[in-house]
Amino acid sequence: MKTFKGRTAVITGAASGFGLEASRIAAGLGMNIVMADVQQDALDRAASEIESLGASVLPYRLDVSKAGEVEAMAAATKQRFGAPHFVFNNAGVASGGLIWEHTLKDWDWVLGVNLMGVVHGVRAFTPMMLEAAAKDPGYEGHITNTASMAGMVNMPNMGAYNVSKHGVVSLSETLYQDLCLVTDQIRASVLCPYFVSTGIHHSHRNRPADMQEDAKPTKSQLVAQALSDKAIGSGKVSAAQVAQYVFDAVRDSRFYVWSHPHALSSVQTRLEDVAQSRNPSNPFKERPEIGERLKRDLREAG
Ligand SMILES: NC(=O)c1ccc[n+]([C@@H]2O[C@H](COP(=O)([O-])OP(=O)(O)OC[C@H]3O[C@@H](n4cnc5c(N)ncnc54)[C@H](O)[C@@H]3O)[C@@H](O)[C@H]2O)c1
Repeated sequence: MKTFKGRTAVITGAASGFGLEASRIAAGLGMNIVMADVQQDALDRAASEIESLGASVLPYRLDVSKAGEVEAMAAATKQRFGAPHFVFNNAGVASGGLIWEHTLKDWDWVLGVNLMGVVHGVRAFTPMMLEAAAKDPGYEGHITNTASMAGMVNMPNMGAYNVSKHGVVSLSETLYQDLCLVTDQIRASVLCPYFVSTGIHHSHRNRPADMQEDAKPTKSQLVAQALSDKAIGSGKVSAAQVAQYVFDAVRDSRFYVWSHPHALSSVQTRLEDVAQSRNPSNPFKERPEIGERLKRDLREAG
């Protein structure tokens, strides 16, 4: 997609992190923006900031895990701006701990937002975009889904998140292939960030009441939270840079969007494990002290 001015972006998770930075860039490019998020107060603040940059904004409060709410947001988008050109299915949440200690509510919440949220976005918007493309040979569209490096490798102690993000990578690669079968006017990307300082390590702020646990967090969940606080807090690449990479990839029709390309060696190791039928490699080979610390903390838990 080469032209942005006067066109429409739909961004989920727009009240914080990558979504807010993407909204800032979209405003600078002269786009109309549907800013969708579950957190009303943050959304109100973000939308008024983006409006003050001169953009036409439709702020929309929704929970992306709910198909009906995403469909209603798609209808509101069409009514206000027509079919969108750029859809950024980006809202997501994180939760850690040993995989057998995730509760059913943990699985429902993480898969519901991270994976089904993207499914709902793709189902609601792709037909609308294809219809616009069929009517107008000048129409260009792009769908970017936010996965993670956790969709490319499997770090321990964050199983539900890994599963959700591998699902988003698979969905996005398939979306890319399916779009190529039917149109030259719409393309897709997948964003795979490594650790970047955003609000993601405080995801529980938006965990709905019916997904809350009565039980206290387990030792492995506390260890995961402490590790992610540290890793996210010390991220060197900014959310604004990552959002710029997203737009660069849309402009260049590039599918994979990395925040930390040097971390791709871990993806290569995993793919070599698969191709050579090797058992999964130690994910902490580069930073053995982290692996040792994690082992010690978890074994101390008894
Ligand atoms: N920051 C990182 O290090 C990192 C790394 C890899 C992947 N990601 C992914 O990037 C995406 C954006 O996260 P971020 O890092 O900007 O975090 P963030 O917490 O700053 O932003 C996420 C936004 O999503 C919203 N959200 C949460 N649940 C929602 C729901 N059910 N419906 C609608 N909106 C909802 C939140 O209110 C928040 O505004 C997520 O998919 C996340 O998994 C982040």
